[in-house]
Amino acid sequence: MPFRTVLTTRLGLRFPVLVAPLGRGSTPEFLGSVAREGAFAFVALGHIPEAELRQTLSGYAAAAGGPDRFGVNLVLIADQMQRLETALDAGCRVVSLLRGDPARYARRAVDAGATVFWTVSGPDEAKRAADCGVDFIVAQGREAGGHLTGEAPLMTVLPAVIDAAQGIPVVAAGGIADGRGLAAALALGACGAWMGTRFVASVESGTHPGHKQAIVASGVSDLVETTLFDGGWPNSPHRVIANSTYRSWRAAGSPPNGSRPGEGEQIGSFPEGGAMLRYNVSTPWATMDGDWEAGPLYAGTSASLIPSIEPVGRILARIDAEAESALRTGVGYLDSAFAEERDGQ
Ligand SMILES: Cc1cc2nc3c(=O)[nH]c(=O)nc-3n(C[C@H](O)[C@H](O)[C@H](O)COP(=O)(O)O)c2cc1C
Repeated sequence: MPFRTVLTTRLGLRFPVLVAPLGRGSTPEFLGSVAREGAFAFVALGHIPEAELRQTLSGYAAAAGGPDRFGVNLVLIADQMQRLETALDAGCRVVSLLRGDPARYARRAVDAGATVFWTVSGPDEAKRAADCGVDFIVAQGREAGGHLTGEAPLMTVLPAVIDAAQGIPVVAAGGIADGRGLAAALALGACGAWMGTRFVASVESGTHPGHKQAIVASGVSDLVETTLFDGGWPNSPHRVIANSTYRSWRAAGSPPNGSRPGEGEQIGSFPEGGAMLRYNVSTPWATMDGDWEAGPLYAGTSASLIPSIEPVGRILARIDAEAESALRTGVGYLDSAFAEERDGQ
């Protein structure tokens, strides 16, 4: 059953599902699949050299069916205005912002006719969203995969953000991997779900196949929150699957940055050239050579809900059917309560 919310209407979607940026895993082919199947994916711009950005975006646009059929994601830990200008000039019309102060970026994007999403830490930031001029808020629960902004689990942070949002629609992120999670988010007042880990473990994502398999194999206790993978983004908590790098660091007594095991060691080479060092922030991509397993295997606790690597279209169809079934079950409880009340009268 196609759900209709302010999110699906605004972006012209069949499903109220947004796919998070997945580092180098967000390939043009992946974004194209998500767009074709009726959802909407974001791509992170931070790792794309500015000189190559325009050409890279045109490749994404060709695969997705236009520059407005995918979104661009900017992490505001450094000045990203030039990247935003290039993206807007290339025709991109959906922008996602995270960390830092979004006001200047949101204003510029909205002036250019773009739709702006801001991932907030909690209700205090959500109160600023209207002044910043953003169109949608993303409430991230702490159980999320990748870098963490949310200050509490989704069950708490989502309703708190909705209460603070002054009517700006809110999308739920973190810990959602199936239709039951989408139904719960909708029941809490969200207009859709923003998912990362579920789509890393899709056939089409450009993430390393070993990372996808590790997600399928993970239970909740395999996931850890840490600041360990800090090369390129220091002091920023993130959730990963505990891997060999994490385990040796723990076995060494969790020493501080500068005296960690294998610090400065090369574990692979970037596609654009240059060494990928142990503790680097980049998530292993499909063709990574070297020791992919030692890199940050970003994943949320939602990994424990993912039974297999599936094509994007099948994942979306299943989420849709499961969400419908979960919501009908809830309505069924109401119906039987009403019937009992009526029969008792
Ligand atoms: C592999 C991976 C890479 C991510 N990269 C980014 C990113 O570049 N920018 C961003 O805003 N969020 C990023 N995230 C976080 C997601 O936006 C989102 O908050 C998270 O995936 C939601 O939790 P879930 O993984 O349980 O669905 C990433 C998540 C994963 C799993």
